[in-house]
Formats: sequence, C-alpha cells, structure tokens
Amino acid sequence: MTGMHHMLAHFPVAFWALASLMILVGVLAKGWLADLCQAALLPVLILGVLGALATLLSGYGIWSLEALLHSPLTRNHLLMAFWSLAVYLILLVLVWVGGRDAFSGPRGLALVVLGLLGTWLFALTGTLGGHLAGAPTFFSALPRLLGWELYTTFYAPTWVLGVMVLLAIAAAVLGFRRLKRAHR
Ligand code: HEM
Repeated sequence: MTGMHHMLAHFPVAFWALASLMILVGVLAKGWLADLCQAALLPVLILGVLGALATLLSGYGIWSLEALLHSPLTRNHLLMAFWSLAVYLILLVLVWVGGRDAFSGPRGLALVVLGLLGTWLFALTGTLGGHLAGAPTFFSALPRLLGWELYTTFYAPTWVLGVMVLLAIAAAVLGFRRLKRAHR
C-alpha cells in the first residue's frame, strides 16, 4: 500500500510546480504565453489541490497516526504538507475570485510571492518524504544552510505566531475597507 502514497504524491508535486511556473510567466511575461498561463492556471490549481487531498488521505489511510507522530521527520513532513496545501488553496481562491485582475499590480506580486513560498514548502515536503523512504537528496543541504535541521521537529516561536495572527487581522481589515470603498 505504501506504493499508493508514493504514486499519488507525484500529482500535487507536478501540478504545484507547473502552477508556480505559470504564475511567474502569467505575471512577469507578456504575450500569448502569459495569456495562456493566466487562462489555464485555475484548473491546474484545482487539480493540484485535489491531488494533495488524495495524497494526504492515502497517508492517513496507510500509516497509524500514533506511529507517524512519534518521529520528528514525519511530523515535519506532515507540517510541510499542510502548509503547502494552505498556500495553494489561498492561490486557488485568489485566482478564482480575481480572474485576470489577479495577475496585475500588487495582486500579481502577491501571487508571485505565494507561488515561490509554495514551491519552497512542497519541495521540503517531498524532500522529507524522500528521507522517510530512505532516499535523501542533495536538496536537504539547502534548508540545513538556512538553519533548519530536518531531523528535529520544526517549530515557530510563539511570537512569530502572534505576528502572523496580527498580519492576518490587518490584511482582513484592509480588504474589508477596500471592499467598502469599491461599493460606495
Ligand atoms: C501534499 C501532501 C503530501 C505530499 C506531496 C507527500 C509527498 C511524499 C513523497 C514525495 C514521499 C517520498 C516517496 C518516494 O520517495 O517515492 C513521501 C513519503 C512518505 N509520506 Fe508523504 N506526502 C504528503 C502527505 C503525507 C501525509 C499526510 C502523510 C501521513 C499521514 C505522509 C506520510 C509519508 C510517509 C510515512 C512516507 C515514507 C514512506 C516510506 O517510507 O515508504 N505523507 N511523501
């Protein structure tokens, strides 16, 4: 059954990699290729999220949660998988709601930043999966250079979580204000 998880994991990884590339081209380039990327990004994001849900479900179906949560490496793999899913879900909503407008100005910049963040997170998810399956890659050197030790549980200090909550509240307030102004 473990082969099922290994096989399914290719879907989110492939669709998310393609989606991030399409964001870069859709926002930073001009011409027919940029148009094509803008038009086709939404289905690619939907397929990526569906693939991730299937991969997540396969993980929970195959391995016992008790065993999974005892290893820092698996805890990190799960954490990165959920962070990746969260980032690509946000991208999906932004592109769904914003349509072509999502690719220009500050909105386009937000897509690029989130696309790069998502790429980093799903690459880490796969790297940690590779470690779990006994096939580590050279990519592991990169997080280590930045001070992330893969074999120790990743954590964010409480103050970082506090700052994230404050930023989320500020973003929501700004969004509602803009919405109000647009309806006046
Ligand atoms: C977006 C979600 C996920 C992605 C993209 C992903 C990706 C991967 C990848 C690429 C591998 C290595 C496979 C290989 O080398 O052939 C792997 C292994 C693994 N994953 Fe995930 N994973 C995800 C979610 C999960 C979840 C939710 C769990 C557990 C509930 C999980 C548990 C594991 C375990 C235990 C292994 C090691 C398998 C082995 O030793 O054979 N993964 N994963």
